[in-house]
Amino acid sequence: MSAMASAQVLTSISRDDKPGLSAMAFISDTATLSRVSADLFSVTLGKANVREGSIDAALAIGEWPRDLDLLIVDLASAADPIADAAALKTAVPGGCIVIGVGRINDVALFRDLIAVGFNDYLALPFAEGAMSRAVDRALELRQRTGNGVVLGQSPLKDAAPRTLSVIGARGGVGATTVAVAIAAMLGTRLKEEVLLIDFDLHYGSLMLALDLEAIDALREALDQPDRIDALFIQQVAQKKSDYLYAIGAEEAPTNGFQARPHAAGDFLRSIHRRFRWVVADVPRGDPVIQRQVIEASTDILLVTDLSLPGVRDAMRLQQLVHDVAPGAKLYIATGGAIDARRSAVKVADVERTLKRKVDCQIPADTAAAHSAVNVGKSVSEAAPASGIVKALRPLVAGLDAPGDPGTSGKVRKMPSLIERLGRGLKK
Ligand SMILES: Nc1ncnc2c1ncn2[C@@H]1O[C@H](COP(=O)(O)OP(=O)(O)OP(=O)(O)O)[C@@H](O)[C@H]1O
Ligand SMILES: [Mg+2]
Repeated sequence: MSAMASAQVLTSISRDDKPGLSAMAFISDTATLSRVSADLFSVTLGKANVREGSIDAALAIGEWPRDLDLLIVDLASAADPIADAAALKTAVPGGCIVIGVGRINDVALFRDLIAVGFNDYLALPFAEGAMSRAVDRALELRQRTGNGVVLGQSPLKDAAPRTLSVIGARGGVGATTVAVAIAAMLGTRLKEEVLLIDFDLHYGSLMLALDLEAIDALREALDQPDRIDALFIQQVAQKKSDYLYAIGAEEAPTNGFQARPHAAGDFLRSIHRRFRWVVADVPRGDPVIQRQVIEASTDILLVTDLSLPGVRDAMRLQQLVHDVAPGAKLYIATGGAIDARRSAVKVADVERTLKRKVDCQIPADTAAAHSAVNVGKSVSEAAPASGIVKALRPLVAGLDAPGDPGTSGKVRKMPSLIERLGRGLKK
């Protein structure tokens, strides 16, 4: 079939009334071709136009269907992949998502492709499911930027998955205590199962705090998110109470772990198929995971103590949140692990430094905090009358209330990948 004839066939397919992405792919080797076909099957309702060929064949197409949503091209044979990619990007419709594949595994190539307008690049060979995740990611971003239509097949079609990240500005400020209490209170309030995830794979204390068993599978899941299915989640998410589940690991200190790009985001996306609400306990010691989880969060709670280093680090984390998750809702709390009455820094100092209001002042209540640890429950269950619970109540009530932007299913405006990358490159 000539290139023009193929384009005509695709045009007629994409005008079909049924929902589904209008997609085209040019892949040189047969193994990758069948993998891409399989991955595209569900998002295109089996109508992806996947052909043997490379970017040269794509560049030979004179007229592209105006409603093309997705194009996947093999850059393997290109002498100058960036120049070819730039030429292709100018030829296809503006809203079309373009994903490159190729043998070169090099971050410089990835960045150059993003800079010319590609949405993603996957190095060959890639695992089953990797392409559908890349498409999910690109679609999600396109929706967030308001660029293009929302399709019937979109993963964000009717749900607004929420991830609240809880981050302590310093060690021991009470972040884990707060994360557990919020998850428990939110689940009870919404009558909906909420999943707590401890992303500190080595030194996390969340599972200990809830008297649950740490599991090895979290690291595996971050390594291979395509392994995550309903059965996996059912096996690893440990039930604490009717509405509270938790996952956490206890990797050996010698066991180095370097999360691959997008690992936490991919993992959370899979988890959200089962749990709409996730509360993440985010480690300070692992900047890679920390950044990835923040990036994937819709809501972020920064807990600081009333100390000079605490406020300094809260300021740095506030900046990080603005840089990597500008669309997320940021809350600031002062922790109660250190009694505010004994602190030199006052809440007003925190507000002046961060140039915003503190949303929640958590009081010191050692008896309540310790009784929660002793019985392996959240503070809200172990000591419901505690000032800690009282202080958190308005924050929890506002998290998923009518009028809360995240509740409507609308997605907030996020900067494009290019904007984010540009920011990263400027540093
Ligand atoms: N509001 C509070 N009042 C009194 N003690 C508290 C309060 N919150 C937490 N604690 C206690 O402070 C200690 C540290 O709490 P937690 O583990 O929640 O802090 P964290 O910020 O998560 O620490 P890490 O940096 O180790 O992760 C625990 O013993 C906990 O019981
Ligand atoms: Mg903690």
